[in-house]
Amino acid sequence: MILGIETSCDETAAAVVTPGGQICSNVVSSQAELHAKYGGVVPEVASRRHLELVSPVIREALEQSGATLDDVDTVAVTVGPGLIGALLVGLSTAKALAWARRLPLVPVDHLHGHVASLFLEPSALEPPFTCLLASGGHTLLLDVRDRSWDGVRVLGTTLDDAAGEAFDKGARLLGLPYPGGAALDVLARDGDAEAYAFPVARVPGLDFSFSGLKTALLYAVRDLPPDELQHRRADLAASYQRAIVRALVERIEAAAPERVAVVGGVAANSELRASLPGATAAPLALCTDNAAMIASAARYAERLDPPDYLRLDAYASAA
Ligand code: KG4
Ligand code: ZN
Repeated sequence: MILGIETSCDETAAAVVTPGGQICSNVVSSQAELHAKYGGVVPEVASRRHLELVSPVIREALEQSGATLDDVDTVAVTVGPGLIGALLVGLSTAKALAWARRLPLVPVDHLHGHVASLFLEPSALEPPFTCLLASGGHTLLLDVRDRSWDGVRVLGTTLDDAAGEAFDKGARLLGLPYPGGAALDVLARDGDAEAYAFPVARVPGLDFSFSGLKTALLYAVRDLPPDELQHRRADLAASYQRAIVRALVERIEAAAPERVAVVGGVAANSELRASLPGATAAPLALCTDNAAMIASAARYAERLDPPDYLRLDAYASAA
C-alpha cells in the first residue's frame, strides 16, 4: 500500500492507494474557513494548522482504508511547488514515518499529482493526451506522453494570474467568501452569461492571460450602484465565468489535440466540464487538492531508499 501525504497549500490530506491505483481511502481536511476572513491563504496560519491536522488526518486515512502502518510499504509526499512552510510539515512527517519503519519515500511534484489524478482506477486514462491543468496556483496546457513527470511537456502557461486565481478574485469582487471558485460556479447558474461582454485575452502561442478580465469585472462592479449590483451579481458571475471558460477552451482547441483531459480545482467547474463534452475530466473529488493523486503519481516517480531521503528539501516554485 502507498500512503500519500499532501500539505502544499490549505488542504491537509492523506490517502491510502494500492500499487494498482485503487483508492482505499482519501481524507481531505480543508482549512478554507480558517483563511476566509483574510480573503486568502495566510502561509504561517496554514503551516500551523497543518501541524495540528497532519497526524489525525493520516490516522483517519489508515482507519478508513482498513489498513495499518504495517500494510504501508511506500510513503509518498508532495515536495513542491507550494507554500514552503506548509510543504515542510508534510515532508517532515513523511520522512519521520518512513524512516521509523525504514520504508522508501517518493517525493512527488504537486503538478504531477494533479495529472496523476487521471491514472486512478476505476477509470484510469492512458497517455498520450493533452491535459489542461487549471488550479488556484497554476494554469498549464500539457502534452502528456507517459505517466511519469519526465514524460510531460509544457505547451502553454499563464502569463499572469492562474485560472483559479481569476475565479477567486472575481468571486471576491462579487462578495463571495474565499475560495470563491465553486461559489461563483453556483451563482453563475442563475445568471445570463451574455449580459456582459468580458474580454477573452488572446496572447500569442498557447499561453493564457487573465489579469485584464479581472480588471474588466472590477470596473463593471465599480460602475454599478450598490442596489443595482445586488440584482446583477448572477449575470456578472455568469459572464465572467463564460470568459474564463472560453479562454481555456480556445487554447485547448488551438492545440488541436486528439484527446483532451482536464485536472485541477478549476476542472470541477460545471461550465468548463459541459464545454468539453469529448474530454476526460478528473473525477470531482480528485479535482481539488488531495493525497490520492499524490500516491498515484508516486507509482511513476523515483523512490528513494532510507536514508537517502533524509536530506530532501521542499521547493516553493516549479523549476
Ligand atoms: O487544485 P486546487 O485545489 O489547488 C491548487 O493547487 O491551487 O485548486 C483550487 C482552485 C481554487 O482557485 C478554487 O476556487 C478553484 O480551484 N475551484 C473552482 C471550482 N472548484 C474549485 N473554480 C471554478 N469552479 C469550480 N467549481
Ligand atoms: Zn493543486
